[in-house]
Amino acid sequence: MRAALQALTDELKRLKASGVRDVVVSDESLRALRTVVESRARTAAAEKEASGPVASVAEAPEPAKPVAEPAAPARSTPPSAKPRAAVPAREIVEFPPSPIVTLPSGDKQTRWDALLRMVTQDEVCRAHVRPGKKVVLGVGNLDAKVFFCGEAPGADEEEQGEPFVGPAGQLLTKMIQAMGVARQDVYIGNIMNWRPELPLSASGVQVGNRPPTPEEMAYCLPYLKAQLEIVNPDVIVALGSTAAQGLLGVGSFKTLGEIRSQWKLFAGKPVMVTYHPSYILRNPTNRSKRAIWEDFLKVMERVTLPISEKQRAYFLDK
Ligand code: URA
Repeated sequence: MRAALQALTDELKRLKASGVRDVVVSDESLRALRTVVESRARTAAAEKEASGPVASVAEAPEPAKPVAEPAAPARSTPPSAKPRAAVPAREIVEFPPSPIVTLPSGDKQTRWDALLRMVTQDEVCRAHVRPGKKVVLGVGNLDAKVFFCGEAPGADEEEQGEPFVGPAGQLLTKMIQAMGVARQDVYIGNIMNWRPELPLSASGVQVGNRPPTPEEMAYCLPYLKAQLEIVNPDVIVALGSTAAQGLLGVGSFKTLGEIRSQWKLFAGKPVMVTYHPSYILRNPTNRSKRAIWEDFLKVMERVTLPISEKQRAYFLDK
């Protein structure tokens, strides 16, 4: 129980440091916490009686303010009703204001190095990254014509501090090579600079990923814009629905199908919206591969990359 309370305290401290002021706690969790606090208070009172005055528990952190779930407030929940599960932290709406990024003058490398320092020292980014994990900025050729933009780092990316190095990244690298260029010739970034958090499993690791919230994306957007300003690519490729929402606006479309394979505009740059490579990993059919490849062909045409007949025919065979 002590370890669980310590883990909870650490998580609340981390959330508080990142600007979170409210968390949603289920009735069930509130009851469990109350039991623990009451039993600790009873133990402390008994010890005090036995051994005289003791120091107060001053180091206990001021926790983020618990808020009853809107749909099942504690007051109106009938005693027999089954309490809802705690809503994960992603429903928190408050977030610190986005950073104002001012790049220094100098060549591209100097400006990018300065940006890397800003991002890795950003207190909000750091507060969202668990110990031993990394804040992630884009990588690649600062003169790239094509800027790939994904969603957010995953487990491999926060470990290595580089975007798209896990399974989806390895597929993206192959697709870039199919365009006739190397991964080092393009620039690869993300909407987000940290891995959106989920509660840790019993073994203390984050299992799985969640899409970033609009507030998280808004916070990181100035860093993406700064990378675009430095690289100044000819085109941006938005990989998947979340990246497209981050660039084009949350709620600006309902389904990826509405805008996929079309040219849009972000920060004055043409954006090709396509599938995320992880979609192809989940649906490894020639049909889905051909769909994303057709978007890549449009990008190649736009940046005047040579296209062979063989490349034009990739994934056409059923
Ligand atoms: N998926 C993304 O969107 N970005 C990464 O960096 C890795 C996986």
